[in-house]
Amino acid sequence: MTTSTGKLNQDALEQIATAARILNKGGVVAFPTETVYGLGADVTNEAAIRKIYEIKRRPENHPLIVHIGDMTQLEYWAQEIPQSALKLAEYFWPGPLTLILKRSKHVPNSVTGGQDTVGIRIPAHPVALALLDAIGPEKALAAPSANLYGRISPTSAAHVQTVLNKKVDMILDGGTCEIGLESTILGFERENVSMLRPGGIPVTAIELVINKPVQLKKNQSSEIRVSGSLPSHYAPATPLKLYPADKIFQEAQRLSKQDVRLVIITWSGIDLSSFDSSNVRHVRMPQDPINYGKHLYAKLHQYDDKTFDYILMESPPELPDWLAINDRLQRASYTQT
Ligand code: TXA
Ligand code: MG
Repeated sequence: MTTSTGKLNQDALEQIATAARILNKGGVVAFPTETVYGLGADVTNEAAIRKIYEIKRRPENHPLIVHIGDMTQLEYWAQEIPQSALKLAEYFWPGPLTLILKRSKHVPNSVTGGQDTVGIRIPAHPVALALLDAIGPEKALAAPSANLYGRISPTSAAHVQTVLNKKVDMILDGGTCEIGLESTILGFERENVSMLRPGGIPVTAIELVINKPVQLKKNQSSEIRVSGSLPSHYAPATPLKLYPADKIFQEAQRLSKQDVRLVIITWSGIDLSSFDSSNVRHVRMPQDPINYGKHLYAKLHQYDDKTFDYILMESPPELPDWLAINDRLQRASYTQT
């Protein structure tokens, strides 16, 4: 959709104008962001918001993120915004950061799941920003990731098409998502910042900007309000098993004796050539967290196609910059291990 200079071409602008008309009439449009594809609807149109929940088969008490086009809209949708939140927004927006703030009267209950807070972000993707501009200054897009509830988020238009094609009014194709993992979600208690979901922005970068530690909220399994915090989430349909390098070899050996079809996804350079057979595929991931994160969901989508009985994954390093990746893989493997 973009030209070599990164500008949107004429065809893209026309498609975005069509998408904006559909949204302003209460339709649902899948659109690209820098993190994952979103399933968007006009925040203030309750019928359109209901469609999102129906399409995703998502419980109605799971709130949606409100996507805005620029900073001036922040105080229209939120109030009593802490200084640290403003500082983070100014530093990281447009970008993969969602702030949970006290909602204003403009945000309907259907979007917040009845809570008095609202999640807000400005996405950093030219198509998303042009779309937000095209729907008009008083509007915003409520958008969860454009996947079925509990499944892997889409990082390309093709991923959305496979699952939601006939259910949405339009899919805007903006190429492959640059980040590939969902936004980091932060909550605020006065000026205290806590991380509700690790994501595209590492915690170390956030701490540098606010100059104090971020509280890590682990194991929120008893709370339902952040759906991505439930233990089993972001999961492929094929059982996914997570093992450290020394165990993955043994497990591959055990399973390959049972004549099952395996895909083994590693990152460390471990030698699995002895498993070369038509039943076993070995896939190598990048060794740095940025590129690993960018390709993770695409790989899971690719191999979650009934060709394999198991996905065996090498556990990534337990380091701060790998936090979001470890979080998603633990949830993806939860029910199988
Ligand atoms: O990168 C992203 O954040 C993508 C793109 C499309 O922006 N969106 C996304 O949305 O991942 P979703 O709905 O799949 O995940 C957003 C998470 C959900 O777990 C939701 O429960 C939580 O954010 N959330 C939204 N509003 C909230 C609120 N007011 N309080 C607590 N959690 C909230
Ligand atoms: Mg999601």
